[in-house]
Amino acid sequence: MKRIFLSIAAACVIFNAAAQQTFFSGGGHVVLKDKAQKTFLLLPVQENKDGANIQIISDGKVEQSLNVKLAVDKIDYFVPLSIEKFSGKNLVFDIEFWGGEKQTADVKNYLCWKEIHQSNDFDTQNKEHFRPEFHHTPLYGWMNDPNGMFYFDGKYHLYYQWNPYGSQWENMTWGHSVSNDLVNWSLEQPAILPDGLGTIFSGSCVVDKNNSAGFGKNAVIAFYTSAGRNQTQSMAYSTDGGKTFSKYEGNPVLTDENRDFRDPKVFFNESINRWNMILAVGQEMKIYSSLDLKNWNYESSFGQGFGCHDGVWECPDLMKIGDKWLLICNINPGGIFGGSATQYFIGDFDGKKFVTTQKDTKWLDYGKDHYATVTFSNAPDNRKIALAWMSNWQYGNEVPTKQFRSANSVPRDLFIFEADGEKFCGSKPSDELLKLRQKVIKTPSETCEILATLKGDAKITLSNTKNENVTITYNAKTKVLTFNRKQSGEVSFSKDFAAETSVKVPGGSKTLRIFVDKCSIEVFDGEGKAVMTNLVFPSEYYSLIATTGCKTIIYQLQK
Ligand code: FRU
Repeated sequence: MKRIFLSIAAACVIFNAAAQQTFFSGGGHVVLKDKAQKTFLLLPVQENKDGANIQIISDGKVEQSLNVKLAVDKIDYFVPLSIEKFSGKNLVFDIEFWGGEKQTADVKNYLCWKEIHQSNDFDTQNKEHFRPEFHHTPLYGWMNDPNGMFYFDGKYHLYYQWNPYGSQWENMTWGHSVSNDLVNWSLEQPAILPDGLGTIFSGSCVVDKNNSAGFGKNAVIAFYTSAGRNQTQSMAYSTDGGKTFSKYEGNPVLTDENRDFRDPKVFFNESINRWNMILAVGQEMKIYSSLDLKNWNYESSFGQGFGCHDGVWECPDLMKIGDKWLLICNINPGGIFGGSATQYFIGDFDGKKFVTTQKDTKWLDYGKDHYATVTFSNAPDNRKIALAWMSNWQYGNEVPTKQFRSANSVPRDLFIFEADGEKFCGSKPSDELLKLRQKVIKTPSETCEILATLKGDAKITLSNTKNENVTITYNAKTKVLTFNRKQSGEVSFSKDFAAETSVKVPGGSKTLRIFVDKCSIEVFDGEGKAVMTNLVFPSEYYSLIATTGCKTIIYQLQK
């Protein structure tokens, strides 16, 4: 990720208290008046507090509403609220605190009133040592699901669930990054912002090559869930290649009686010459079809009696691979090792109904930190390139980072293979990752790839001088690959973090490819037949390696 330094130095910020006035009324309600003179209003955040809603009012009109955990007695970090477009105007910030914190008498004493200030700069020179090197991360703020990914004109576009006003989940907005190579990502302006219909939940984009929707040939059309009083489906279109979007005036385009109704994935289905949409609804997937992308016909539902139902189904994807169809179904909670995970079904699809004979539950990744997996639309050579959110709803909001939270997995190419008479979906690290390889090194560096050739039973231990470690073991007889992070470093932020994950590799493993970044380890079977993605937070990086039953080569990785 190209870091954009939005700040010269925090120290040179002049505290502009003069124009600012704060009025306190009952019930945790505060009115802050300020004249917009600089680019940002910097808001101090304290993460373990309940938070407040802020409405920005200009000329009596509510211009924006956002939620932020304003600091009560400690500042974790600042977030920038852009006020540039109101330059010179008198603004009213109408602030309403929630929950147990809002003892009226105390609100006056909150630390935030001393520290809120305007600034032309915002320091994003993030030096946190858990900031990944070769995984995509937001510049600042919280990120969860990858959204709307598409390829066009040599560029991969990645949108993502983003909170611009804190490093925990809130204010869902589509952030945007672009890459030529799936490894180097540039930061773009946020693409789709909350509106009267709600915040902007997950969804997908298509390139409308034949102008089915009438927004123009090659318009990029985004489908997302408007999460307001209800969850409904909306569209937005872009005629500048995915940079900026206009919301469709006919929104919402789909409603349902179910509360959990979200995450539309849209694709063109050549076999019926129509568009299909697949949506997660409760614990099922609903399938629709359309000619013009605006009017959708319900076709069928899939789910009852298939796979895992210990949680809500979310973020579907459906794609043809060879002569089979792969249905991706993210589920939370109920994942194989607790919390969030991605299950899949291999079957057939005629544009109306998805059918499968698959009896068991199959998981795309057997680690704890691989969720909301979806693939790029329109990828070159019909590749099925997948990205996941590299975290878990069990503790995503608590992981020990500050100015940003969460990264995406490395890109993977999905494929279908057969082993022991069954069909599976494999994940191969995308070839673009080979470009990261630098020199061969003897001991692990902070960011490296370890290639292991297994002789039979094998064990690889990565550790540091503090005796924090992870172990990866392979049992040649049972074909089970295991990853243990119980002593990997900082694990105390959640009771669900210290864990062991395992997978029986279909057909067994001969080699492994292990990708190590600042706070993650992704262990792939060398042929992509199984993968485990796990976060780790060692207090210093794993510089030591001990192995039995295998030979290793280590490449330093760098962008
Ligand atoms: C999955 C999810 C989606 C939803 C989004 C909200 O992680 O819950 O179902 O659209 O996150 O941020």
